[in-house]
Amino acid sequence: MHTKVESAIISLSLLFLGVFATTGSGLAQERVYVVRDVLEAMETITKGRVMGPDENPFITPNRFVVTKSSEIPGKAVTELPGLVYGKLDAKVEKIGVVMTINEGVIELAGGLGVNVLVAHHPFADATNFGGVRLRDYCDLYGLNLFEAHEAFHGRHPGIAFLHGYKVQNVSINYGGDPGNVMFLGKAFPDTKTLGDILQRLENIMEGQKRDQFLALEREFWGKADLQEAVALNKPLILLGSPDRKVENIIHIFPHTGFKPEHLEKVYRDNPNLDTVICSISRVRPDHALVQKAAELGLNFLLGNSHPQEIYENGMPLGKALTQLLPGVPVLLLDQRVTAIPVAEAGNAALQAYGDQMAAILTAK
Ligand SMILES: [Fe+2]
Ligand SMILES: [Fe+2]
Repeated sequence: MHTKVESAIISLSLLFLGVFATTGSGLAQERVYVVRDVLEAMETITKGRVMGPDENPFITPNRFVVTKSSEIPGKAVTELPGLVYGKLDAKVEKIGVVMTINEGVIELAGGLGVNVLVAHHPFADATNFGGVRLRDYCDLYGLNLFEAHEAFHGRHPGIAFLHGYKVQNVSINYGGDPGNVMFLGKAFPDTKTLGDILQRLENIMEGQKRDQFLALEREFWGKADLQEAVALNKPLILLGSPDRKVENIIHIFPHTGFKPEHLEKVYRDNPNLDTVICSISRVRPDHALVQKAAELGLNFLLGNSHPQEIYENGMPLGKALTQLLPGVPVLLLDQRVTAIPVAEAGNAALQAYGDQMAAILTAK
């Protein structure tokens, strides 16, 4: 039994907590957020490009609802920026920011108690969910799923910043092709040469530390042939030399559909260009884009690779969510990918297991 004074104190305390829980002021960590709040945060972050809570993407026009297809029957996917799956009134426990959802991501989220995943890349039923229905898998862990891909692109100048220049012009659909992203910009005062860009990327993206960690990992497992995606795709100059001057930059992302004829047209419109930066995806030295750049007398530099997009785009997204939803734990789900020859994978027991099962698989 509480005394009257104790009861009054308890009532006051509850009232006090209740105020913070509803206003979100002061002790921000007391605020309870629901999935609808995450949607509102995504509206802010994308500047209103996501779908509203009650919008049908096939009725309400939204230019960021885009279907991309390689004309393979049954394999097209439509981007639905916003809340793709989940309950608007579900309480937000933890948010995971991720590039691409896969089974590892879902299990990581499940283990961490993350119940909201904000994916940068669009996902498709079953494809990104270990081959099973999204609904069946996500309901197990109470996962609410957001995506914002083209709706997010071009919303911050960070990728240019990381590569050492200031954006002056952005196209997210160059040549009328949705998703064909291109930046034009001017090098920062301290970015004078191609070598400065390489050094800047090396410093900010911790290239050397990653190499050291990979060396430790190879030694720890006794696997000299272990490879890792970022370490294999370091920034590199394809045309020019480290001391070549850099001033006016075109930044392209060839996996989004940027073609040599696009480069020619941009150069015709901007004859002061001197450098092509190609990042996220890259081209081989004999690629037509490199040949076109050589023809035009341009430098050509390969920048960050796609696995680093979790830092290029995921970090700003995660920080923005943290600021808009103070107190909610936001985690960055890095997806480090490694490769090893089958003959060196696992331990002796797994090698024997693999051999035995392979014998069954190959028996005639
Ligand atoms: Fe992206
Ligand atoms: Fe991407």
